Amino acid sequence: MVQFSLPANSKIVKGRHYPADPSARNVRRVRVYRYNPDASENPRVDSYEVDLDSCGPMVLDLLIAIKNDIDQTLTFRRSCREGVCGSCAMNINGSNTLACTKSVNDIRGDVKVYPLPHMAVVKDLVPDLTQFYAQYTEIKPWLQTTTPQPQAEWKQSREHREKLDGLYECILCACCSSSCPSYWWNSDRYLGPAVLLQAYRWLADSRDEAAGERLDDLEDPFRLYRCHTIMNCAQTCPKGLNPAKAIASIKSMMVERQS
Ligand code: SF4
Ligand code: SF4
Ligand code: FES
Repeated sequence: MVQFSLPANSKIVKGRHYPADPSARNVRRVRVYRYNPDASENPRVDSYEVDLDSCGPMVLDLLIAIKNDIDQTLTFRRSCREGVCGSCAMNINGSNTLACTKSVNDIRGDVKVYPLPHMAVVKDLVPDLTQFYAQYTEIKPWLQTTTPQPQAEWKQSREHREKLDGLYECILCACCSSSCPSYWWNSDRYLGPAVLLQAYRWLADSRDEAAGERLDDLEDPFRLYRCHTIMNCAQTCPKGLNPAKAIASIKSMMVERQS
């Protein structure tokens, strides 16, 4: 049988331990993936003991407490702290989610924090999203029209507006794409659930007049049809969206335009 093993410098090694202050009464251990490509060291997992009585209730609050009070070298992204910017997406105890909306109380035992899986790591918890954003640009995520610009706004009926529910809420956090096995193995050619949900957001928009071109661009064995309905994407989305359903809707549009 073929045996696979990681190159020696990719193996995760035991990291440093930072004990809590002896006066702390409500301590939780946080294990955090650490990797600095500028240092010639293997990735490691550091463990920090954090006093929950002296920080906020979310996993992001733990990370901020670690960075402020224990170890300034820890690197992660965050901005809004309320689940709307998508920048704090990471893998927490095995699931991709937003650190700012994940309550520590919902986690039993140690809190384990890793970067989003199957993406190159820039540093510590920061994944390289360059390709993800390039793919988003490819689907032309803006309103395309050919009729003359109206004097005021492009109007939309209430019913047509409702067709965008479940799509416009996507914050492009990449939790779904980095949980999708098809995207892991073909991320250079398959657009992945987040970008395809965004593509459908424009296909479903009654004001957009480029549906034909948009479908032409997606008509490809890899860009769209690599989705095998495994559903990891819908399971992990921290906003409760269903990219697999959006992908199925695009496939239906492909069939409809051929009949
Ligand atoms: S569909 Fe959900 S998981 Fe995927 S990018 Fe959008 S908000 Fe994030
Ligand atoms: S349903 Fe499709 S997009 Fe979602 S995880 Fe599965 S293969 Fe990926
Ligand atoms: S910090 Fe913006 S979504 Fe978490």
